[in-house]
Amino acid sequence: MITKEMKIEEVVKQNPDAIDILSECQIDFCCGGKQVLNNAAKEAGQDPDELVARIASYRRPGKADDWRQVLDFNREELINYIVVKHHRQEELLIEEVERLLAKILYVHYRSHQDSLAPIYRTFLELKGELTPHFAQEEKIDFPAALAGDPIDWSGLKDDHEQVGGLLKKLQELSSDFTPPDDACTTYRRAFEKLHELVDDIHLHVFLENSVLFEK
Ligand SMILES: [Fe+2]
Ligand SMILES: [Fe+2]
Repeated sequence: MITKEMKIEEVVKQNPDAIDILSECQIDFCCGGKQVLNNAAKEAGQDPDELVARIASYRRPGKADDWRQVLDFNREELINYIVVKHHRQEELLIEEVERLLAKILYVHYRSHQDSLAPIYRTFLELKGELTPHFAQEEKIDFPAALAGDPIDWSGLKDDHEQVGGLLKKLQELSSDFTPPDDACTTYRRAFEKLHELVDDIHLHVFLENSVLFEK
């Protein structure tokens, strides 16, 4: 049973579907997983009891059950899953978003430069953080963890905080991924894909911080 006294990471482990509600309320479940739900809810301007009731009655449509199994993976399965389903997928998404953002930046520069230029710069900063971060995990820390070496995860956790700040900034700069009324199809697609990338990274960081690093 979910209670407001639980840590956010415990809530998500018990009911992974909760991430939809937490994201909607802008409650950080990836780097802020150690926070108690009651406090995080209040900080986000939500009534803790109502939030608990919403999480308890919510079931995510679609593939949530697949993801539920991931929480039971052993260390090796989880690392493979993270690399294939998150690192490789996010690299593809990053390529696509970069291309789409560069395109709309040119086409809509006169009318939307104030919004699109900072989004583009922040996105590139995110890419600049993630590429060496993935390499550090795949080339150094994950193989060491698989070999059974004791790992100090604090460097990766610091990177996650940094990335989390950039995700929040992208969400704010894009008004929660809402394109302007005059947006063309490419503009809408760019914001959709950016949103997909941000959601994927949130899940990915949760799996590392709250599941893998604690195995
Ligand atoms: Fe990762
Ligand atoms: Fe990571």
